[in-house]
Amino acid sequence: MTVVESVKSAVGLADTQATREEMSAARLPLQYRDSCAHLLIPLNRCRQQEWYLPWKCEDERHSYEKCQYEEFKKRVAKMDELRAAKNAPNSVVQTYIPAVKMHFLLLIAALAIIGAVATRRLITERQFRRQYGCQPIARSYSKEPFLGLDTIPDTIRHVRKHKILERGCEIFRTYGNTFTLKELQRSAIMTIEPENIKAILSLKFKDYGISHRLEPFKPLLGEGIFDTDGEHWASSRALIRPSFARDQVADLTSLEGLIQDLFALLPCDGKTVVDLQDLFFRYTIDSATDFLFGQSVGTLKKSQSELGFVEAFNYAQKAVIMRGMLGRLSMFYRDRKADDSYRICRNFVQQFVDEAFYAAEVKKEQTGKEEPYQEAKRQKRIFSHELAWRTSDKRRVLDELMNVLLAGRDTTASLLGNLFFMLAKNPAIWEKLRSEVAFLQGRTPTYEELRCLKYVQSCVNESLRLHPVVPRNQREALVDTVLPLGGGKDGLSPVFVPKGTMVCYNVYVMHRRVDFYGPDAEEFRPERWMDGKLQPRWGYLPFNGGPRICIGQRYALTEVSYVLVRMAQKFRILQSMDPGPWEEALALTLCSRNGARVCLTPA
Ligand code: HEM
Repeated sequence: MTVVESVKSAVGLADTQATREEMSAARLPLQYRDSCAHLLIPLNRCRQQEWYLPWKCEDERHSYEKCQYEEFKKRVAKMDELRAAKNAPNSVVQTYIPAVKMHFLLLIAALAIIGAVATRRLITERQFRRQYGCQPIARSYSKEPFLGLDTIPDTIRHVRKHKILERGCEIFRTYGNTFTLKELQRSAIMTIEPENIKAILSLKFKDYGISHRLEPFKPLLGEGIFDTDGEHWASSRALIRPSFARDQVADLTSLEGLIQDLFALLPCDGKTVVDLQDLFFRYTIDSATDFLFGQSVGTLKKSQSELGFVEAFNYAQKAVIMRGMLGRLSMFYRDRKADDSYRICRNFVQQFVDEAFYAAEVKKEQTGKEEPYQEAKRQKRIFSHELAWRTSDKRRVLDELMNVLLAGRDTTASLLGNLFFMLAKNPAIWEKLRSEVAFLQGRTPTYEELRCLKYVQSCVNESLRLHPVVPRNQREALVDTVLPLGGGKDGLSPVFVPKGTMVCYNVYVMHRRVDFYGPDAEEFRPERWMDGKLQPRWGYLPFNGGPRICIGQRYALTEVSYVLVRMAQKFRILQSMDPGPWEEALALTLCSRNGARVCLTPA
């Protein structure tokens, strides 16, 4: 008996062709006829007499049956599926075994995919090995192979003790110049080989990216030169580069104005302690805003109205670091104060963008198409105005200004803080510096004179060597690629770098390699740079290298040398008031944890 016949006999109605079709459309197989019938019978009594089409019945009284029927249809469909898989109707086993089997099949499929990926990786690796003679990296810092959790407690301990960079030196001493590290689900290659760094930053520049940077930095910086890759980065760089031309950074008049603000805050009695590092952070935000916006925020003059921006900027940077540490988990990170800080900073800079666009429009009307700064070289050049002249995209200008402000402010201040900490600890070096600048007889130096001061340059170089302001850096492999060194037991063979691997280079440790800098590599000795024989090339990398080399390098060196010369002219004695040695404070940049506390005696 068919299901239709069984229903028909249960309700006592005549069979019809339509009924059969509907029933078969509803996919009611024979073996479910009882269940089918019990659902259909009550519907027979409904007004429309559509007893065999319960899903069409509009009578509210039958809504329960309708629900039941829908549920029933689902179950039938599911049973059909399971039956087809098992091909063995009629048992309890038929419900569960196919389900188990399905999971099993899924597992097999997953394993097959993993196997295929691994095989592909092996084939690619073999091709690379053949082509470049790659060998695997012999040593790994992480012993636990899955998530690399074993190294985390040690890292936390050293972060707490402010010795994470020193710890880095020990690890490289133990594991060699290139080794691997497991960082949760990702694997990383750590290196201090100049040849590898050259490959990452220059020779194979296109194989690497910094997409990991965008997520944490975006809320503050938007998308600009410092946090983007590829085309976007290239157009940012092209937009900004002309503003770092030589005649632009050689404008020392603005720096001298700020030096006077700085001097006004320095006690000259030889016994009052002052933290120079703290003042240098204020000096550099003043000079950076003057350079970028044409107006300094004037923190050295304590112009209270605008200190809100500085406070917000400091807090926003801390939040950026936190987001960076959280990595992908940062999407769950919520910090109201950080959101407010991003907004305050961007709104603050937006005013200068608006003003710059207004100025650019006025200039365009006055001067026609030519860039105004070409014809008026003597006029003070303002970075934001120049950008507004080159693009009509306001958002772009805002983002680039935020990027350059972040890249340029703390870096220079940190260098000055580290440098003065070491100079105060070494009175003989301070004395030598003072003799070098004595020929100026107290007048301010020109740009050309600054560049000729060998010992001044050597002190700056040495500070950047011993305490590089950006001590660690990393790039992500965007494609399968190869590093020239680190493979095999002796670490001298090339290494295969699978796509997605992080390659981390540690400038702090590399700058202390005794094979490059000699047995006194841990000492602050500017003399090592004096005869010009020390040429570490990619072994000395305070400003990075390759297409992404620091665009503000010349600006920073000019600014730092200027401050150094003016301080050496002004103060005879720079006495350190820090009892201990230099200690690290590692945030976005590396500076001295205890500042640079000194007593100053004027010349
Ligand atoms: C002592 C001072 C400075 C040091 C040690 C320094 C160091 C660096 C380093 C290491 C990078 C490369 C970052 C990376 O790609 O991972 C960099 C990039 C950059 N720096 Fe500097 N910097 C200093 C000062 C400045 C100043 C004063 C400015 C601007 C006024 C500036 C603007 C930039 C910009 C815009 C980038 C990004 C370049 C790009 O990705 O194409 N820097 N800097």
